[in-house]
Amino acid sequence: MFKLSKESEDFVKKELSRYEAKYSAIIPSLFRVQKDHGWVPPEAVSVLAKLMEIPEAHINEVLYFYTMFNKRPVGKIHAQVCCNISCAMNGGRELADALCKSFNVQDGVMSADGKITVSRVECLGSCDTAPMMQVNDRYIENLTPELAVRKLKEMGA
Ligand code: FES
Repeated sequence: MFKLSKESEDFVKKELSRYEAKYSAIIPSLFRVQKDHGWVPPEAVSVLAKLMEIPEAHINEVLYFYTMFNKRPVGKIHAQVCCNISCAMNGGRELADALCKSFNVQDGVMSADGKITVSRVECLGSCDTAPMMQVNDRYIENLTPELAVRKLKEMGA
């Protein structure tokens, strides 16, 4: 059964007190859950809904709108490859395919050893350095498939 830590519960309550509308606290609260667990389990939504007195549907709307929230467990290394217009025109989709092949994973599915997840995502706001990917909290830009594989291996993938 999913449980929020005391610290996370306090965090959510504090966020709720910061805003006039409770809905404004949804994004920071989901981030907190993701920070603690690496992803946002469906049970976490029920727990947040009760604590925040917000319908689950509203929390799910936010959760499923943003690709920055992980809806399933991700590997220690999470390579999010932008496949939006600038990156796609510069080989972003092929880059994602090459990474999936190199690390023997499917798009968005964590490797069996838990080391890596490769996910296709929408624009990450770094269009002038396409193609690019976000690896955990770091942007790696102007990529080729070879360079991307090398960088991920250097990071322990
Ligand atoms: S299209 Fe890839 S960062 Fe914007």
